[in-house]
Amino acid sequence: MTSKPAGLAKSLGSLVQILRGKPRLPASLQDNPLLQLILNRRSVRRFFDQDIPEDHFAAILEAGRLAPSTVNLQTWSFAIFKRDQWQALFGRSIPLHGQRAVIVIGDTYRTRQVLDVFPYSPLVEYTIAVINASLAAMAMNLAAEALGVSSVMLSETGQTGLLDANYLKDKLGLPENTFPLMTIVLGYARGPRPVMPPKLPAEQIFFEGKYCQPSPKVMKAWLSQMQVGYKASHLRSSFESQLEIYRRKIGQAETDLHDIVFYQRGT
Ligand SMILES: Cc1cc2nc3c(=O)[nH]c(=O)nc-3n(C[C@H](O)[C@H](O)[C@H](O)COP(=O)(O)O)c2cc1C
Repeated sequence: MTSKPAGLAKSLGSLVQILRGKPRLPASLQDNPLLQLILNRRSVRRFFDQDIPEDHFAAILEAGRLAPSTVNLQTWSFAIFKRDQWQALFGRSIPLHGQRAVIVIGDTYRTRQVLDVFPYSPLVEYTIAVINASLAAMAMNLAAEALGVSSVMLSETGQTGLLDANYLKDKLGLPENTFPLMTIVLGYARGPRPVMPPKLPAEQIFFEGKYCQPSPKVMKAWLSQMQVGYKASHLRSSFESQLEIYRRKIGQAETDLHDIVFYQRGT
């Protein structure tokens, strides 16, 4: 067991590590505006009460429509919302006071109308839908950043993500072979820029040749930073209690998703 002063010193050390974290960009590329935009993107969870102009929102959606996908199958659909539309459907505000929201849905139902790409291969079909729709989500996220619009992707908050697939299927009238994945909440960032959460060091995630075993020391340091960083931004909560919220929903979500992926066959 760690003593109180030792624990405090460890927490402070973790905080310092978080605050020191910054994108690593070769000096020769530091002025590249697109790279800066990509590397400085942050998930934002506080928004001003100011709507996004229609042309800006249209451009964000267009980035999703034109995203890359497996064999250009475009295995996605997007449910798009203004504040009043969200309120009307869900009976509450867009989470975090966002101004617009996009529910990202993996969708092989549409292409199934004209193509039999997926014989009985539910996991492959699901995975392909998820990969492509997630890439489109990221394209929208970056297009938003380019227009000064911030966003966060939500898989849990407000019953609008992967863990609430059945609820969303019902609310949105989704057919078989559609997989709700996440909600992108968009708006103009309010308050200070979020600090970059602890990112794993490059040597832990890139490898040449054979897979490198994770370093227990580095992974423990990362976990400690996650816990301390979470506490610093959510004084009344903790990283563990946040995980607990996920854990509580995951059992049911697993069952629901299992049914959606394996049994809701359109053909
Ligand atoms: C698919 C997906 C689901 C997410 N779900 C949530 C969520 O339910 N609640 C939340 O506060 N953040 C959510 N996030 C945001 C992550 O917490 C965030 O991306 C992560 O902490 C890294 O921070 P950064 O985006 O600023 O780099 C989600 C992100 C992704 C990609």
